[in-house]
Amino acid sequence: MTRRSLAAVAAGLALTLTACGGEGAGSGDNGSGGGAEGDVTVGVSMPTQTSERWIADGANVEAGLQEAGYEVELQFANDDIPTQSQQIDQMITQGVDLLIIAAIDGTALTSQLSAAADAGIEVISYDRLIRGSEDVNFYVSFDNYNVGVQQGTSLLQGLGLLNPDGSPGTATGPFNVELFAGSLDDNNAQFFWDGAIDTIQPFIDSGAIRVKSGQTAIDQAAILRWQQETAQRRMEDLLTSAYNDGSRVDGVLSPYDGISRGIITALQNAGYGGAGQPVPVITGQDAEIASVKLINDGVQYSTIFKDTRLLADEAVRAAGSILEGQEPEANDTETYDNGVKVVPSFLLESQIVTKDNIVPALVETDYYTQAEVDAGQAS
Ligand code: BGC
Repeated sequence: MTRRSLAAVAAGLALTLTACGGEGAGSGDNGSGGGAEGDVTVGVSMPTQTSERWIADGANVEAGLQEAGYEVELQFANDDIPTQSQQIDQMITQGVDLLIIAAIDGTALTSQLSAAADAGIEVISYDRLIRGSEDVNFYVSFDNYNVGVQQGTSLLQGLGLLNPDGSPGTATGPFNVELFAGSLDDNNAQFFWDGAIDTIQPFIDSGAIRVKSGQTAIDQAAILRWQQETAQRRMEDLLTSAYNDGSRVDGVLSPYDGISRGIITALQNAGYGGAGQPVPVITGQDAEIASVKLINDGVQYSTIFKDTRLLADEAVRAAGSILEGQEPEANDTETYDNGVKVVPSFLLESQIVTKDNIVPALVETDYYTQAEVDAGQAS
């Protein structure tokens, strides 16, 4: 992803905000994005820099907040729970005015949030819902159940069980499919899984899809911290244990592009992708550039594009409202119960991307350049 284009988009969004009444820049400011609110600081806590989406999220949120005139304290936690807790503790001690947090473990931040509430600091939960706390003020994310539906749908389309328009396809199977899920401490993992399984279950019931390993429970399919290497090892184990009789894997439900790349490596090491040995239909999520290239090259079948530029914009908009003492606008007040309360949310839509629509979905929207897609690398 080009930082350049992200920053430009963020700047454009901030200008739009200010042009619409100056919300983002705070009361009394003329919307020029400069100095007046320089003493208002937003702490932004992101989970990791090992996945490009979180790097882009951090950069986009930071740029949007700065354009709106706020100071930003941005930290990445290296996928380590104590590191994230400590970074948030420090932000609270340092006296930030608002926190935007994408949690590593959605259940691990209760005491930090309680300390924030005691200090009068409101909290926006970013993409991953923080659970078990009264002190989450707002949630910005995507329609995560629908992301799972899209993953299941694209798996069915890739296998030919559904046509691109959703009508029944001509393929009948039976297809051997294996299932992967995300990290169970991330609230999103269950949503993705539920959406995908609800979508493919009728085909399991009819016998068109069979999970040859028998591993159909989410805790068997889950990959801690969404790690590529863990996914590769699980796929290797599945090949050894369930496909040592000459049978082949036809499809893999994968919830995230990094997991998909681990699965692909395991399959390629076992000969898939060689002559007469097609790579199975493999799904993904996040439209990471390395995976977009794999899709373009016909190795991975699909990903789910979530435009994180828009998510960052929503976070900046919600931050502006809260800092001005207003309620941020929600478009969902029912779905996201964190175990203590239903958190008002703003949810965005996502999109299935296959080889057929990389250009309109990702290139024409300036998410990537064609050269980046060809190279499999952001410039
Ligand atoms: C996000 C996904 C991402 C995953 C792994 C989830 O919480 O919603 O977009 O693929 O974390 O980073």
